[in-house]
Amino acid sequence: MKCDVLTLFPDVLAAYLNESILKRAREKQLLDVTLYNIRDYALGPHRQVDDSPYGGGAGMVFKPEPIFRAIDSLKEDGEPRRIVLLSPQGKPFSQSMAEEFSREEKKFVFICGRYEGIDERVKAIVDEEVSIGDYVLTGGELAALIIIDSVTRLVPGTLGDERSIENESFSWGMLDYPHYTRPREFRGLDVPKVLVSGNHKDIDRWRRTQALKKTLEVRPDLLDKVELTKTDKEILSEIGLTSSGEV
Ligand code: ADE
Repeated sequence: MKCDVLTLFPDVLAAYLNESILKRAREKQLLDVTLYNIRDYALGPHRQVDDSPYGGGAGMVFKPEPIFRAIDSLKEDGEPRRIVLLSPQGKPFSQSMAEEFSREEKKFVFICGRYEGIDERVKAIVDEEVSIGDYVLTGGELAALIIIDSVTRLVPGTLGDERSIENESFSWGMLDYPHYTRPREFRGLDVPKVLVSGNHKDIDRWRRTQALKKTLEVRPDLLDKVELTKTDKEILSEIGLTSSGEV
C-alpha cells in the first residue's frame, strides 16, 4: 500500500506508524506512507488553515487553498493517485472496501479534515469521501490510521501467517469464533474439550457453530449478506434457529 497523508497533526499518525506491525511493514516496503503537514501549504504570515463559515454559524471551516496547494505539489511527480477525503459524510468503510483498497495500484492520498467541516470546493479534487462509522471524530487522523492499518494487514507478507486473515471476522462475512490458548484450566475456567480432542472435523464444526451463534446474537444483519453453506443450515436447525434468528 502506498499513501500520502495530509494532516495538521503528522505526529499523531507517526506515533502509530512507528510501532509494531505497521513499522515492520514499512521497513519491508509493504507500506509506504508519507506524512504532510497541511499548514506547510497555507498562505499568509499566520499560515491560517481555517476561517469562519459563509452564512454564519458556529465553528470554523477548513480553507480550500492549503489543500489544493498540497495536492498540486504532490501531483508534480506524475504518479497516479486516488484521493480520499475522510469525513463522516463519506461512504462507510468496511472489510470489503479494505480488500479493494489493498489491491489498488495507485498511491492513495488521505485528506484528514478538522474543525466543523471542510470547504465544499475541496470535493472537486477528491475521488471519494470515506467515513469509518456513524460518529463524529475531532478530525480524520484516526480514520486514516484505521484505513491504513486494516488495508496494510491484508497486504501479503505483512502478517507472519497469512492464514490468520482467512478465517477471521468479516472476511467470511460473520463474526469470529472464540479463541483459547494455554493454560488449559485457568481460575476454574476450562478450555472447551473439543479444542483439545485433536479431531479437526469436530473443531471446524464447533468453531462454525460458535461463529453462527455469536453473529445471530450480536450482528444478525450480517447473516442476510452471507451465503450459508449446507453445514451452516444444518447447524442452525440443530441449535433451533433460522438465519433470521427465528425459532
Ligand atoms: N472525521 C470526523 N469523523 C469522521 C468519521 N466518522 N469518519 C471519517 N473521518 C471523520
